Amino acid sequence: MYTMQSWTCIFLIICSMQSVCHCCDWIRHHYGHLSAEYLSLLDQMGGNITEQDAPVFFPESLYRPIDDAKFEDQVRFRNETIYQITKLFDGNMKSVTWDKKKLDHFLNILERQFENLKSCVSPAKIPERRLKRYFKNLNRMVLRKMNYSALAWELIRKETKHHLERLDIFQAKIH
Ligand SMILES: *[C@@H]1O[C@H](CO)[C@@H](O)[C@H](O)[C@H]1NC(C)=O
Ligand SMILES: *[C@@H]1O[C@H](CO)[C@@H](O)[C@H](O)[C@H]1NC(C)=O
Ligand SMILES: *[C@@H]1O[C@H](CO)[C@@H](O)[C@H](O)[C@H]1NC(C)=O
Repeated sequence: MYTMQSWTCIFLIICSMQSVCHCCDWIRHHYGHLSAEYLSLLDQMGGNITEQDAPVFFPESLYRPIDDAKFEDQVRFRNETIYQITKLFDGNMKSVTWDKKKLDHFLNILERQFENLKSCVSPAKIPERRLKRYFKNLNRMVLRKMNYSALAWELIRKETKHHLERLDIFQAKIH
């Protein structure tokens, strides 16, 4: 009887460990690879990254605490940032001159990364309001204010590149 219970218990522990590690494994094996791929597509899909700066400050102060945060918080932060980027790219892209195939590929990989991060850990109890506000400002002050022009999209591309590169910096901790 006791043996039966212990076996059941061990079995349950192993199952729960696997569900946690499934996500760690996925991040270890695919996150970096997908990240390198979308960064290179982002570079290739258009000309040089513009030297002009977006009229919104990059939220470096939100990244700094995340560099030293727990694995779960890093996953949540990545999840939210990538989600907000995919939302930005939902805007009107009629004036964009980028390579359409590379752009679609870029967005597909970004979406895939998001789908995997989304259910990787439990969502945060307190949502990251400042990150959301920053992306809202970016949308308002760049895309909407500049009428979704080609230049507006170049600024978004530049800002996106900065985020995706910045998200890679704390990757080392996950391994
Ligand atoms: C793009 O950047 C490279 C390297 O900085 C430079 O040599 C080249 O002239 C630039 N191209 C354009 C079209 O500005
Ligand atoms: C990832 O982001 C989406 C959209 O904000 C949210 O619904 C989901 O709960 C988030 N998941 C995690 C693990 O933070
Ligand atoms: C954007 O469009 C509006 C209305 O069509 C126009 O009044 C405004 O000057 C445009 N802004 C820019 C930066 O082109």
